[in-house]
Amino acid sequence: MQTALTLAAVMAHCAIVVLATAAYTAPTTSNFTWTANSKSFILNGQPYNIIGGQIDPQRVPKEYWAQRIQMAKSMGLNTIFSYLYWQDLEKYQGHWDFTDRNDLASWYKAIADAGMKAVLRPGPYITAERDWGALPGWLGIIPGMQTRANNAPFLNATINYFNHVGEVIQPYLVSNGGPILMTQIENEYGYVGSDMNYKSALSSGMAKAFPGIRHYTNDCPSCMKAGSVPGALAIVDGSGPKNQIPQIRQQISDTSMQGPLMDGEVWITWFDAWGPHKGHTGTADASGDIDWVLSQGAHFSLYMFHGGTNWGFGNGGENNPLTPHTTSYDYGAVLDETGRPASTYNNMRNAIAKHVSNIPAVPSNPPLQSVSSFTLTPVARMFDFKPTVITSSSPKTIEACGTVFGYILYEHKATASASGAIAVGTGAPRDRIIVLVNGVRQGTLDAIYKNRPTVNVSLKSGDTLQLLVENLGRQKSGQMDQVKGIVGSVSVGGQALTGWDHYTFPFDSPPNLSSSSNNSISVADTSAPTWYRGTFKNTQTPDMAADTFLDLPSFTKGLVFVNGHNLGRYWTIGPQQQLFLPGAWLHESSGENEVLVLDLSPRSGSRTASGKSTRRWGNNPDPDCNNCS
Ligand SMILES: *[C@@H]1O[C@H](CO)[C@@H](O)[C@H](O)[C@H]1NC(C)=O
Ligand SMILES: *[C@@H]1O[C@H](CO)[C@@H](O)[C@H](O)[C@H]1NC(C)=O
Ligand SMILES: *[C@@H]1O[C@H](CO)[C@@H](O)[C@H](O)[C@H]1NC(C)=O
Ligand SMILES: *[C@@H]1O[C@H](CO)[C@@H](O)[C@H](O)[C@H]1NC(C)=O
Ligand SMILES: *[C@@H]1O[C@H](CO)[C@@H](O)[C@H](O)[C@H]1NC(C)=O
Repeated sequence: MQTALTLAAVMAHCAIVVLATAAYTAPTTSNFTWTANSKSFILNGQPYNIIGGQIDPQRVPKEYWAQRIQMAKSMGLNTIFSYLYWQDLEKYQGHWDFTDRNDLASWYKAIADAGMKAVLRPGPYITAERDWGALPGWLGIIPGMQTRANNAPFLNATINYFNHVGEVIQPYLVSNGGPILMTQIENEYGYVGSDMNYKSALSSGMAKAFPGIRHYTNDCPSCMKAGSVPGALAIVDGSGPKNQIPQIRQQISDTSMQGPLMDGEVWITWFDAWGPHKGHTGTADASGDIDWVLSQGAHFSLYMFHGGTNWGFGNGGENNPLTPHTTSYDYGAVLDETGRPASTYNNMRNAIAKHVSNIPAVPSNPPLQSVSSFTLTPVARMFDFKPTVITSSSPKTIEACGTVFGYILYEHKATASASGAIAVGTGAPRDRIIVLVNGVRQGTLDAIYKNRPTVNVSLKSGDTLQLLVENLGRQKSGQMDQVKGIVGSVSVGGQALTGWDHYTFPFDSPPNLSSSSNNSISVADTSAPTWYRGTFKNTQTPDMAADTFLDLPSFTKGLVFVNGHNLGRYWTIGPQQQLFLPGAWLHESSGENEVLVLDLSPRSGSRTASGKSTRRWGNNPDPDCNNCS
């Protein structure tokens, strides 16, 4: 607490943060503690064995939270671990949103109502295959910002975030009789650094925002020392608890960091990434590992118990070349993306049942529904719905234009002739750039390919050059220089172009297509990005019985809204071929469900969609970059 006050005082004067190393004192509570160098957590005086699994509420429809938690309990789990996505809680700086999937109070209430406990993983940086590890994109243009570091602007924004979360979840802390037992400091920080001033500042901020709960750090075995904080329990993560758990005592000798042995992330399998040659990872059975952990009297959390979905634009990526993660975050998890048990669920349950009695029965879940094929009609161009223009002589980034996710359109009116190859910004494109002249698609540049084709254009005075740039997902490692859009200048045949109009498309909500008077527009193979619209009737009760996989054959790449919900990106290249459409978001059987599909690279021909009751994974060549690799 002393340190927290020092930090606050320093912040108030906007001075450089100087913190005493290891000044942090661990919070204690009479409710939840651990005994150094022993097996047990102690909750209300009794030993407590953490049999955990990860569910991130922000990847799950709120309507289904209680069902997902019940499925965890019915597998024998007693503790839900959750990352929080700062980037969704404060999408725009200073604009806090704790509604719908960001309604953390309701999330922890649902856990408490189920008689379960919780572990808080607020970051600020969390990995989790999220865009920038869930850091808000606007951090990228704050002067002097250094992410994941003992840096005044970063710590100021982070502690402000902790305080906002703290206000909401205060009643749910174990110190106030709630389910939240402890909180993790940063995430796998030992991979990238060991700065005790940074770690201490985070712990102090947490001690103030989430008072009375214990702290822990979570790292790979060889990173544990670098990531650890005196007074906080040091635990491991990774895919092999049999190898990892025994290394905890070898790595950590400070008794203030010792306690029950735990694998904070037993990885089930792995995530998927978009690419014509990238397959789906599938499920794996970790029941043998779990049985072993429990037989040792040790503790674990499954990563993921339930992965869920990157709704909208939440996915992250990796670099060199850019590898964006898919909309589905199924993760081969024990509970699949739709909340139904994967093939491994029963094996896991049986493994836990060897060590735990009175596991509740598994509730039955309805099958997914099929929806017959329905027609989607092209009704408007994406660029018919331009927001207010932002003008400058050289291109500005997406963040400098006031947003962080989605697309940004750059428009240049040629005042002289120019022809030849188009060069957009410095380094690799950020990230996928569709080039149009007078509304006709000329080609696509994309950072996902190492060998990108050249796109040539020919402009004469009066022509309009358009560059539609998509943020495919910031690198998940949380390093700096992740701003999106165009960084640098644009040239054609070596001639730099000046004078740009900018239009952002964050798609926080769908455009009002009915404000367009066009009933149907024509689409050619080189048309500009186009909205398609269709409706279907749901024959089921609007709940899990109406869940379906939305299949969009013949569409290339874009995003989908159903009844105003942004289901996320689809991309024919795969491996994900369908989008999870939660039945809870559909209307009663009498109502029409509205499906809006944006195709960024539309082609001629009719379009249909349908709902499938079973999922298909697979790959197709990229029609926009056929021979790219
Ligand atoms: C600290 O954060 C607050 C809230 O985000 C912001 O209004 C303020 O400008 C920041 N101050 C500094 C010095 O970064
Ligand atoms: C936790 O401890 C506090 C303070 O001793 C007490 O008021 C509260 O009721 C306890 N919570 C539970 C769940 O026992
Ligand atoms: C594209 O333009 C470059 C000059 O910028 C030229 O060297 C190249 O031959 C052109 N390619 C085609 C296919 O026209
Ligand atoms: C959409 O546009 C139509 C036609 O201009 C208008 O009547 C309607 O109110 C708009 N809806 C919304 C939600 O703005
Ligand atoms: C109708 O479609 C044309 C061609 O795509 C477009 O130029 C025009 O802006 C559209 N009208 C409205 C009202 O959206």
